[in-house]
Amino acid sequence: MMFHRLTRKGFFVVTLVFLLLAFVCSMPLLKASAADTLGSAAAAKGRVFGAAVTGNLLGTTPYTTVFDREFTGTTPGNEMKWQTTEPSQGTFNFGPGDAIVAHAQAHNMKVRGHTLVWHNQLASWVSNITSGTALLSAMQNHITGEVSHYKSEIWYWDVVNEAFNDDGTRRSDIFQNEIGNSYIEDAFVSAHAADPNAKLCYNDYNIEGVNAKSTAVYNMVKDFKARGIPIDCVGFQSHLIVGQVPSDFQTNLQRFADLGLDVQITELDIRMPTPASSANLQQQATDYSKVVSACLAVTRCNDITTWGVGDPDSWIPGTFSGQGAALLFDDSYNPKPAYTAVIQALGGGISVTPTPIGQTPTPTPINTPSPTPTPSPVAGGVHVAYQVVDQWPSGFTANVTITNNTSTAINGWILKFAFPGTQQITNLWNGQVTQSGNQVTITNASYNATIAPGGSISLGFNGSWNGSNPAPTSFTLNGTPTR
Ligand code: G3I
Repeated sequence: MMFHRLTRKGFFVVTLVFLLLAFVCSMPLLKASAADTLGSAAAAKGRVFGAAVTGNLLGTTPYTTVFDREFTGTTPGNEMKWQTTEPSQGTFNFGPGDAIVAHAQAHNMKVRGHTLVWHNQLASWVSNITSGTALLSAMQNHITGEVSHYKSEIWYWDVVNEAFNDDGTRRSDIFQNEIGNSYIEDAFVSAHAADPNAKLCYNDYNIEGVNAKSTAVYNMVKDFKARGIPIDCVGFQSHLIVGQVPSDFQTNLQRFADLGLDVQITELDIRMPTPASSANLQQQATDYSKVVSACLAVTRCNDITTWGVGDPDSWIPGTFSGQGAALLFDDSYNPKPAYTAVIQALGGGISVTPTPIGQTPTPTPINTPSPTPTPSPVAGGVHVAYQVVDQWPSGFTANVTITNNTSTAINGWILKFAFPGTQQITNLWNGQVTQSGNQVTITNASYNATIAPGGSISLGFNGSWNGSNPAPTSFTLNGTPTR
């Protein structure tokens, strides 16, 4: 009798557990679709992820491959500036800008027009104008000519760029000095008349936090909104320094958004001394993540654009001697830790497809690689750095950097190591992983198969641990022990 009762009770418990499992397993796990590029991850959050482009690099590789694969928006870095578009008065040259617009349209990218009125990269003839009336007329003619040419093709225009000093006073440039305070609103009125549907921005640097400069811009756009001057957005250039993302970035974005404006991160880069240390690259990843999170927290922040595609095409080393490594792709256009951090901040990176009952869900690494050729042995001189960058009671995050100190490019790689403890990798990015017991095998992703001489690639993973979490001490790459 007792046995009979227990059996029925046991049957009831087993049935309940089974039903619960069936319910849990039938729920969509995490999210169901891969978000595996900057553009697609941002799109899943309703944002555009763009890059400033250098027209004469379009068509070169790997620049164009990465640009086309990752970005959903672009800003011509120089090709729509006054110097280029109206090099002599009344004669317009839209060839370089048109080529970028055509490329963007062919790849479904939004184009930010940059920039109509700026004291820099101005055509030399403008500085010969000595009366306010003549300069106003030249400025209006320039804006009308350029905005009309690109009518309906530009997502947002940077109408006026960098008109304020850090202390909140107006920059003393030819427009301010000849025309006076009104030149900014005159510029917006002209742009709106030329393309009433175009969205119009004021764009500047050092306005990311709440400070004298950002408050001066805030007061100006508040006044514009009150008086019906057509302004739709403020662009926060965000040329930042590693470890120095303003803590009130989100608060500042929100106060502008609350004026009824869109806000955009228009020229993001985060520079550091070069050569870059791995600590700074990790800090940069954290910093990029903060910027993305600030934007995502503000509904009207609809664009994040980096000022360049990768470190080789960045303006930083040319302007700040000894500094660089400011973008998301390294000297070989391989993704940096900051790239992974951005994808993760955007909610992308891992997709888990709903799994039938009884099966374990399979995490998919971002940018799942296409099959790669069998890697060849490498010479000695490859270095592997392993670093636990975060750890909590049951889990941890580690980064692994493979540096090719040989004189030969590595084309396709397989990294192997053994965990000294019971660590188990749960998901990995920038590669594909298999683990059997403590033996780990990681193969390259399609985009980081090649490691140039002197170059490096980074990958990362989350894992579980218990007891202790010691680092692996020996690695092989393509069968050769590394150093
Ligand atoms: O085209 C000439 C080339 O013929 C010449 O041989 C070469 C020699 O130096 O210079 C080339 O021009 C350079 C131009 O970029 C195009 O590459 C200029 O020297 C160089 O000063 C210019 O720099 C641009 C900079 O604006 C000027 O301030 C950067 O590429 C551009 O990325 C940068 O972008 C600005 C944004 O428009 C506004 N916000 C700040 C941002 C960074 O400065």
